[in-house]
Amino acid sequence: MFPMEVVQTKRYISCNGKGRRGEDMIVTIPPKKGFNLHLLSQALPPQVAKYPSTRYMGSKQKLLTEIWAVASQFEFETAIDLFSGSGVVGYMLKSQGKTVFSNDYMAMSYTFAKAMIENSDLTLSQAEAMALLEPVEPIDHFVETRFQGLYYSDDDNRLIDIIRSNIKAVRNPCKRAIAMTALIRACLKKRPRGIFTYIGHRYDDGRKDLLMTFQAQFLEAVESVNTAVFDNGRQNKARHGDAMTLQNQESGLVYIDPPYYSPLSDNEYVRRYHFIEGLARDWQGVEIQEHTVTKKFKSYPTPFSSRNGAADAFDKLFKHFRNSLIMVSYSSNSLPTLDEMVTILAKHKPHVEVVPVNYKYSFGNQGNKVGKNKNDVQEYIFVGY
Ligand SMILES: C[S@@+](CC[C@H](N)C(=O)[O-])C[C@H]1O[C@@H](n2cnc3c(N)ncnc32)[C@H](O)[C@@H]1O
Repeated sequence: MFPMEVVQTKRYISCNGKGRRGEDMIVTIPPKKGFNLHLLSQALPPQVAKYPSTRYMGSKQKLLTEIWAVASQFEFETAIDLFSGSGVVGYMLKSQGKTVFSNDYMAMSYTFAKAMIENSDLTLSQAEAMALLEPVEPIDHFVETRFQGLYYSDDDNRLIDIIRSNIKAVRNPCKRAIAMTALIRACLKKRPRGIFTYIGHRYDDGRKDLLMTFQAQFLEAVESVNTAVFDNGRQNKARHGDAMTLQNQESGLVYIDPPYYSPLSDNEYVRRYHFIEGLARDWQGVEIQEHTVTKKFKSYPTPFSSRNGAADAFDKLFKHFRNSLIMVSYSSNSLPTLDEMVTILAKHKPHVEVVPVNYKYSFGNQGNKVGKNKNDVQEYIFVGY
């Protein structure tokens, strides 16, 4: 996927005099190699590999080398991962020694970032993890009753309720986040395809993950999360909120990876992950839609669910972060189009470059298997500086 030496990137530069040269910028450092960005292959720190892998929709786990190959050509100390999702990009930047501010409007994404990005030293001992598996009254039986027969066996549902109840009693927020991250990971591993858009077990292919007990999955997940905890000597922060409402947060780099809008595919995070998102927020402030077979709740509003909404939101975000180095992950099958994106970014940054990255989605979308043309998507990294 990645060229051995150097790849010339497609270049769009707007020097229309409307740039920000006169302004006081946080990042004014031009790339070390002149104006053209190159993808310079370099190994990531071994720490990056300690982040527990997920199949989170749109995860950039496989593009970390490319993202760093671009980012490393600029000098910056602080980085915002504005749509953190699995958290893997923020974690990579933390591993590179940056001060990371991680943001997402999903409670589960916030929980991952709290446990492994903001948290720098706390882990959950084996005894603490084991204690979370012991029934201690009161247990609300919420999952056991509301989700009976949908995703897990009755025994597993009961155990999920025990762990949930015990997690609520954990006083330290970082330890609570580790435990909740582990519970979510266990749920994902025990769920064929790791999604909650269908009920029952029709995709159960007898994989080892599905055969392992829920308890073993949970304990293994605590271990993986513990392994990922480290101190990079910086004060990193996780925020749970709408990207459009982030105020007064200055940063050298802003990495923007919102849901890709396309009329042909689903970019609905809540629909896909409502059960584990429900766990993370304890179903507080959401209403289960009782008429749905999956017992999901309403999706959170986001401008990235329509073409015009996305264009307008990009414009606002680029304006807001005009003093930062802006990097945007984007794909060829999404809207606004590449040219429209360049135009929007060029309104706010004097230099705009587009770095194409070859990438195949790792799992089929709407029934299309990997290998079919629809999934041969071209990924881009837009850079505004
Ligand atoms: C493409 S994913 C990010 C993937 C992430 N970079 C990774 O590597 O895992 C998009 C994320 O945007 C989040 N999101 C969508 N709209 C949002 C909004 N208005 N504010 C904050 N987060 C939002 C979703 O919850 C989802 O986690």
